[in-house]
Amino acid sequence: MSEEKWAVITGASQGIGRAMAAEAARRGLNLFLIALPDTELPAVADELSRLYDVESEFWEIDLANRAAIADFVEYVRASRRTVELLINNAGIGGTAPFAEQNPERIASMIDVNVGALTALTRLLLPHLMRQNEAHILNVASLAGWFPSPGMGVYAATKAYVISFSLALRDELQSTGVSVSVLCPSGVVTKEEVVRALALQGFWGRRTSRYPDQLARHAIQRAYRRHRIIVPGIVNRLLRVAGRLTPLRLLTKLVGGRISLKPGALGHAHPAAAEAPQRRLRHATMGVPENV
Ligand SMILES: NC(=O)c1ccc[n+]([C@@H]2O[C@H](COP(=O)([O-])OP(=O)(O)OC[C@H]3O[C@@H](n4cnc5c(N)ncnc54)[C@H](OP(=O)(O)O)[C@@H]3O)[C@@H](O)[C@H]2O)c1
Repeated sequence: MSEEKWAVITGASQGIGRAMAAEAARRGLNLFLIALPDTELPAVADELSRLYDVESEFWEIDLANRAAIADFVEYVRASRRTVELLINNAGIGGTAPFAEQNPERIASMIDVNVGALTALTRLLLPHLMRQNEAHILNVASLAGWFPSPGMGVYAATKAYVISFSLALRDELQSTGVSVSVLCPSGVVTKEEVVRALALQGFWGRRTSRYPDQLARHAIQRAYRRHRIIVPGIVNRLLRVAGRLTPLRLLTKLVGGRISLKPGALGHAHPAAAEAPQRRLRHATMGVPENV
């Protein structure tokens, strides 16, 4: 395998994933970037490649499609690249009463937040275990620690990510692969998030982070093999307080903080439904589609 190291980052077209990609490139890692088709992904790959003088390839796939994930991992294996960092960041969020949520959207949320993260980790793991050192950084959420009325499915998917990451970390203890789970509170990514954080006033300001700040912190700690990464002292206190609070009271308190304006924390991407089975384009080396 080549000595050059690569990072795989899902959901890299915008928000936290884009910032993670920039931070990985700043550290000299080449990039495999994944997101849905027809987004900013090609521009992000091109920009980071030129700015940090790294190679970047982008895969425009729907992560809900397991075959597309398998194709991607097969490509990584066949291309004999060395992946040192896997960041499972892609995720779908949003707030609405469960009874009013679109059932297809709920299924997509579970498919991407849980299914894709699990499938990609499983398929890439043999490759990662062959390295002397490799890191998996799973992006959960502070919400994963609390039952959250108004975003019950989202919080439950993130609870899965936390539980799965901690268990896998222990299973891999005797290997060179470390697993870290990132649990941010609000991250200033898009307009809906800014609105939701503004509604929270003081708490929104104290608990939120900017994506680049978060990415630097998280990747640094993943390389230091931290288990749970909760950015900010207030968020760490909230997590501990949550664990000491009776569940019934905790659920009420969390529910009281969540705005139930539909879409307050994100929306399903319309391109997901139309995503072709797989589309590969290469930002810097002209690899043809459908390799
Ligand atoms: N923002 C926050 O306040 C916050 C707080 C805590 C945790 N998080 C978590 O952090 C992660 C990133 O959040 P974000 O706010 O940066 O999200 P975002 O801006 O909505 O970006 C989500 C990313 O995931 C990709 N994605 C979504 N569905 C996909 C699919 N089916 N196939 C392939 N890619 C898909 C999107 O690709 P397209 O661009 O192609 O749509 C995009 O790149 C998520 O896991 C989220 O739950 C966010």
